[in-house]
Amino acid sequence: MSSVAPPRAMTVPEFRAARGRGTKLAVVTAYDYTSARLCDEAGVDCILVGDSLGMVVQGHPTSLPVTLDEMIYHTKCVVRGVRRALVVADLPFLTYQVSPRQAVRNAGRLLKEAGAHAVKLEGGVRMRATVQACIDAGIPVMGHVGLTPQAVHQLGGFKVQRDAPALLADAAAVEEAGAFSVVVESVPADVGTRITAAVGIPTIGIGAGAGCDGQVLVYHDLLGLYPDFKPKFAKRYADLGTAVKQAVEAYCTEVREGAFPTAEHSFR
Ligand code: KIV
Repeated sequence: MSSVAPPRAMTVPEFRAARGRGTKLAVVTAYDYTSARLCDEAGVDCILVGDSLGMVVQGHPTSLPVTLDEMIYHTKCVVRGVRRALVVADLPFLTYQVSPRQAVRNAGRLLKEAGAHAVKLEGGVRMRATVQACIDAGIPVMGHVGLTPQAVHQLGGFKVQRDAPALLADAAAVEEAGAFSVVVESVPADVGTRITAAVGIPTIGIGAGAGCDGQVLVYHDLLGLYPDFKPKFAKRYADLGTAVKQAVEAYCTEVREGAFPTAEHSFR
């Protein structure tokens, strides 16, 4: 019998309660087994299987083309790599906007087929009934207000959102509908702080300043893997893009020069 106690798994109620304890929450996106395992072992509180995978994994200019089946596939991969973190999966574009009934069916698939603990969906006041329908079905929901990337065309681009009264109303609506947490994306720092003060659930900021209860970063941004675009709010904690290129270049050179494989990498 092992004497090592298994790590305690993060639950939705514990995630929610972290705010009351004043504990800041660290959230990272991940889209596959290996990255999820690394993030989980590094101690993140929550892994978000974000539909940003449409951009950083699939190479689309927006998240709009991502399908529910793709989200289910990636969430399954992530779930296999996680022992402790809460796994939240994004509902992609047009899988919940049609009706609350549609939202429950599709959110349910992310829990039932993929093994997510909760879903995230974008929108505030307009999504109140949808969030509530999911909660009534026993599906925990993380809200997402501010810059909602699935509405990129309606918003005229990936722009900072500055309408403080509307943003406050959106966050309040999501909380009232029963969400256990809310992502606040790309709003001025003082608005992020005001939203955090106004609601009772953890706010997870991305480009929303230091006043939020937690932060979320996209895995590829955090590691410097995504070459095309570095949003102002994304801090690079490593330059793995350069490291990966150098490693692959070194491999190509050694193969071409006959320096790899050696006896060490060969069977007798
Ligand atoms: O899709 C995503 O990765 C997200 C985060 C950036 C919050 O929604």
